[in-house]
Amino acid sequence: MASRSCFYAFLLLVASQSAMIEAEAEAEIVLPPPQCRPNALVGNEIRTIIQELGLQSVGHLRAIVNTTLLNAPLARPQINMSVETFNTIVKQAFGFYQLIPAFSVYRNDESFLYAAGAVSSLLQQYLTGLIPQIIGFAEQQLVAGITVNEATGFGVLRGQLYALADERVSPFGFDTGTLVNRTANLTNQLGGCGVKDEGLVVPEELGAENRTTTNAVPADINSLAYARYEREILRIVFGTGNATKPGGLFPNGFNGTLYQQIVAGGLS
Ligand SMILES: *[C@@H]1O[C@H](CO)[C@@H](O)[C@H](O)[C@H]1NC(C)=O
Ligand SMILES: *[C@@H]1O[C@H](CO)[C@@H](O)[C@H](O)[C@H]1NC(C)=O
Ligand SMILES: *[C@@H]1O[C@H](CO)[C@@H](O)[C@H](O)[C@H]1NC(C)=O
Ligand SMILES: *[C@@H]1O[C@H](CO)[C@@H](O)[C@H](O)[C@H]1NC(C)=O
Ligand SMILES: *[C@@H]1O[C@H](CO)[C@@H](O)[C@H](O)[C@H]1NC(C)=O
Ligand SMILES: *[C@@H]1O[C@H](CO)[C@@H](O)[C@H](O)[C@H]1NC(C)=O
Ligand SMILES: *[C@@H]1O[C@H](CO)[C@@H](O)[C@H](O)[C@H]1NC(C)=O
Repeated sequence: MASRSCFYAFLLLVASQSAMIEAEAEAEIVLPPPQCRPNALVGNEIRTIIQELGLQSVGHLRAIVNTTLLNAPLARPQINMSVETFNTIVKQAFGFYQLIPAFSVYRNDESFLYAAGAVSSLLQQYLTGLIPQIIGFAEQQLVAGITVNEATGFGVLRGQLYALADERVSPFGFDTGTLVNRTANLTNQLGGCGVKDEGLVVPEELGAENRTTTNAVPADINSLAYARYEREILRIVFGTGNATKPGGLFPNGFNGTLYQQIVAGGLS
């Protein structure tokens, strides 16, 4: 293992994804209750998929504990998945002073899939960046297994989202494609490392081989998955564009020695 702290930060991201569903009962982790997580008013199909993906993340945690030096129970930072957190993100993405009514990620399929897709995308990008740092056969196999599974899960969510691209995000006037485009734009701005998040429908230069405007699977110029590193992820999930200025999904900051080193080094 390149560094345990690195792995730990990644693990917390996995845990954060599983928090989007009701999987705590089986988790080998201590979860501080996420702030205000109303039951999502999503349809059965999406709910079933989310539950499956979330439960799979629990299995990933079990495999991580079994393969690494980390011991259960694992701590996780406070997560704020309140309606207000995502409302703030969407408001910012559209450059609005306010949204009336507030954007609720839990209101319908379009809203929920956008958030689930965004979180899943970050996780996949982080894993992509992490893979080259992993040392040890068992650890490499573990991370490969997690990454491919997570990427498949992301693909399922993205496919559902893509199918809804032209659907209006009720009760607002914009459609799902526009929501994904604007929030991807904001994510890129916060990350500060160029275009790595892409809309569902894009200019040809962001499509496959400069030849498509469809963009069901976001990827770089050679259609490789984009990689994001620790500080980019922190800038984005904090919603501040600053890896040492907590907020957004993690109002109290992050756990692990890697995060402590980033803070100590002032590596915003
Ligand atoms: C833990 O790892 C060992 C050795 O790799 C394996 O045989 C066992 O099935 C694993 N247990 C679980 C619960 O994953
Ligand atoms: C993890 O971070 C939270 C802040 O989100 C903090 O309250 C908690 O004490 C930390 N736990 C560990 C084990 O570092
Ligand atoms: C969660 O986020 C919302 C919006 O940013 C904020 O109003 C609320 O106080 C936060 N809760 C905590 C515990 O940080
Ligand atoms: C997306 O962001 C870029 C700069 O990061 C900006 O030039 C462009 O106008 C934005 N597009 C939309 C639709 O917001
Ligand atoms: C959003 O859409 C605009 C207009 O088509 C495009 O220029 C921009 O690249 C898109 N942004 C992303 C992140 O896909
Ligand atoms: C796509 O366009 C970019 C410029 O936007 C260019 O650098 C790249 O070589 C093109 N790729 C292909 C496969 O034509
Ligand atoms: C990032 O946030 C930290 C803590 O709030 C602050 O000290 C630092 O100046 C910020 N960095 C930038 C570039 O704004």
